[in-house]
Amino acid sequence: MQFKKKILCIGAGYVGGITMAVIADKCPEYKITLVDIDYEKIDKWNSDELPIFEPGLDEIVKRRRGKNLFFEKDMQKEIKEADIIFVSVNTPTKNFGLGAGMAADLQFWEKTAREIRRYAESDKIIVEKSTLPVRTASAMERILSANDKDVHFEVISNPEFLAEGSAIKDLEEPDRILIGYKDTSSGRKARDEIIEIYAHWVSKEKIITSNIWSSELSKLVANAFLAQRVSSINSITPLCEKTEAEISEVARAIGMDSRIGNRFLNPSIGFGGSCFKKDILNLVYICRYYGLTEVADYWEGVVKINEYQRERFVKNMIDAMFHTLANKKICLFGFAFKANTSDTRESSAIYVAKRLIEERAKLVITDPKALNNAKKDLRGIDQNVDYIEDPYEASNGCDAIAVMTEWDIYKELDYEKIYKTMNKPAFIFDGRNILDHKKLFDIGFNVYPIGKPALVHF
Ligand code: UDX
Repeated sequence: MQFKKKILCIGAGYVGGITMAVIADKCPEYKITLVDIDYEKIDKWNSDELPIFEPGLDEIVKRRRGKNLFFEKDMQKEIKEADIIFVSVNTPTKNFGLGAGMAADLQFWEKTAREIRRYAESDKIIVEKSTLPVRTASAMERILSANDKDVHFEVISNPEFLAEGSAIKDLEEPDRILIGYKDTSSGRKARDEIIEIYAHWVSKEKIITSNIWSSELSKLVANAFLAQRVSSINSITPLCEKTEAEISEVARAIGMDSRIGNRFLNPSIGFGGSCFKKDILNLVYICRYYGLTEVADYWEGVVKINEYQRERFVKNMIDAMFHTLANKKICLFGFAFKANTSDTRESSAIYVAKRLIEERAKLVITDPKALNNAKKDLRGIDQNVDYIEDPYEASNGCDAIAVMTEWDIYKELDYEKIYKTMNKPAFIFDGRNILDHKKLFDIGFNVYPIGKPALVHF
């Protein structure tokens, strides 16, 4: 079949994989190919069991795979053939050298730029999809243009705002599409080509453009603002626990102010996920680099409150369970960093699990999708950890349940039945405030919500 345009995406992870599947679905006349250095991942994308779980993704991949959506291993051939290359490789926080624990590790990303330069034989548009520190596009451009071939690379920034668990909907009905470009004739031409892709299903007024630096910075700032909301509501929870205020009532009251809005005000054990912490730390690092200490400190506070909230949750458990967890059996309900995903990156559950292991508790971890990742996260320290998918079986014989992830299934369990099989006194620590606390208390549990007074029998 003759395709109108050939799009390649380097990096077949959450962002690349899902975004390309949706583009393939919306633009049947384009050929969309994904490559990845991880061949196992490519094999999985070509199998019945995709490498990631995301509601609605299986159907789209089944619909488009082999028609205009392809997962391939020969990067050289695919780079040569592509008109547009999306770069969606991971840029984790650096864990070595200058900027360790703060700055982005750009080695995969730079390697990709060099590979594009090496194999390309014709002009290409390079679309930066990974979240990168501001001004990375110019570094990308410098690497790409250091070639002795007669090839022009036009770099565009097109950050992705999808959230896991709702990614397909976020892509199909985005709040906005942001395209950063260089205001030159080739830059404008490239901008229009990228607009043309999204215009297949997104209305023109939602496709906005800006200069490249604003586009890169917007992604970091959007995530910093969202994370800040979670830290803001979480920062009020200890105050509620000390007084007679209830965080859900406070959240409802402030959320009805249309200037504040009611979303992202759910108290929790702290935010997780691959983006929030990493992007804030990136922002902090850039601010420090430019000598903006006050600004850096301000945003760093968002991460500090998150760490405080996680530790506070563990301390509450220790205090409530008579100041020792040694040999007590604790069941973690959920391990994913949020519901409807198998992803556990930066999940608060990892932190809580590690701390409970330090306290010598025995753990049983249950999660409908994330147990394989949980096993990887706790590898080497999980001698006293069991992984059991069925929550009834998992909680059997435990002293406490701690809700880590807001999966719907945990709201619908038969807690009378669970209570009967647990050690007494039985505790529930609801790190997501998703359960019916009064009902649990009436059954006999000692209940510890977040940002509300505990309901205890002694
Ligand atoms: C986020 C951004 O939302 C998205 O735009 C960006 O592209 C990537 O980073 P994601 O990490 O997938 O997406 O999940 P998100 O829904 O934002 O949740 C992040 C974390 O915050 C989760 O751990 C979630 O449980 C927590 N959270 C969110 C709360 O604790 N309370 C809330 O009210 C909302």
